[in-house]
Amino acid sequence: MAKAVVDAEYLKEIEKARRDLRVLISNKNCAPLMLRLAWHDAGTYDVKTKTGGPNGSIRTERELNHAANKGLKTAVEFCEEVKAKHPKISYADLYQLAGVVAVEVTGGPTIQFLPGRKDSLESPAEGRLPDAKQGASHLREIFYRMGLDDRDIVALSGGHTLGKAHKDRSDFEGQWTKNPSKFDNSYFVELLKEESKDLLKLPTDRALVEDPKFLKYVELYAKDEDAFFADYATSHRKLSELGFNVKDGSMLVKAAIGIAIALTAVIFGYLRELNIGKSH
Ligand code: HEM
Repeated sequence: MAKAVVDAEYLKEIEKARRDLRVLISNKNCAPLMLRLAWHDAGTYDVKTKTGGPNGSIRTERELNHAANKGLKTAVEFCEEVKAKHPKISYADLYQLAGVVAVEVTGGPTIQFLPGRKDSLESPAEGRLPDAKQGASHLREIFYRMGLDDRDIVALSGGHTLGKAHKDRSDFEGQWTKNPSKFDNSYFVELLKEESKDLLKLPTDRALVEDPKFLKYVELYAKDEDAFFADYATSHRKLSELGFNVKDGSMLVKAAIGIAIALTAVIFGYLRELNIGKSH
């Protein structure tokens, strides 16, 4: 397991990679695919055994060949371009950063990104990601296993505001919203319509309006986009940090405190000078 040491150099590389990802995602028009990559790397987490999760293992031939990951090889290859320029950054961080940038460049909320994930080549057994043909109890089984809750399930399902299903990848075809390049709350607006002409509703999407506990959040997000964005940003961050040992981020916390202290000293020094200037 390669450990990602988060020091000032690493943070600088993260910021450069963030910029490179913005360009790459716009040029290749691949925000939905990148978001799906980040979600599928993270979504294998098992809170009990502490296995799976955002650890970059999705890049292995074995995991890419899992039925749920059809089509994601392209996303892994796109990320290689950024990895080649910033080899220090772990794959795990890179994929999660790509997911965060994908949401940002399509108009979605800003998602806090904490770097320092470790890479792994150990893939969990196939079958940890949700099966779109099932219903509410399956969704709960899968997301509770990750350590997430009902609110997370509904907020994260809003990721389907972007992109489309491809017959040759999932056997489903079609998009969830009228503008699948824009991250907004229209997924929930469409879900509440009896008939969304020409738009896709997977059985797992329908489960969100059929289950009263899920429906409560669907209704909230459909009428209040700010509430959706706030919850989405929180849930996405949780997803991106599943099983992520926060100790690895301690360097980052120290760096942040150091910067805050340095800034305070500069500001105080400046104010003092201003005062001295006045008294003369
Ligand atoms: C709740 C359970 C979920 C199920 C059953 C599910 C299922 C699917 C399926 C079947 C596809 C079509 C894949 C294809 O044919 O290309 C898809 C696409 C997609 N999913 Fe999900 N998904 C779920 C949750 C999520 C979450 C949590 C996110 C992100 C936060 C997400 C983001 C996406 C995106 C962006 C696409 C479009 C990919 C593209 O356009 O290439 N999904 N999902």
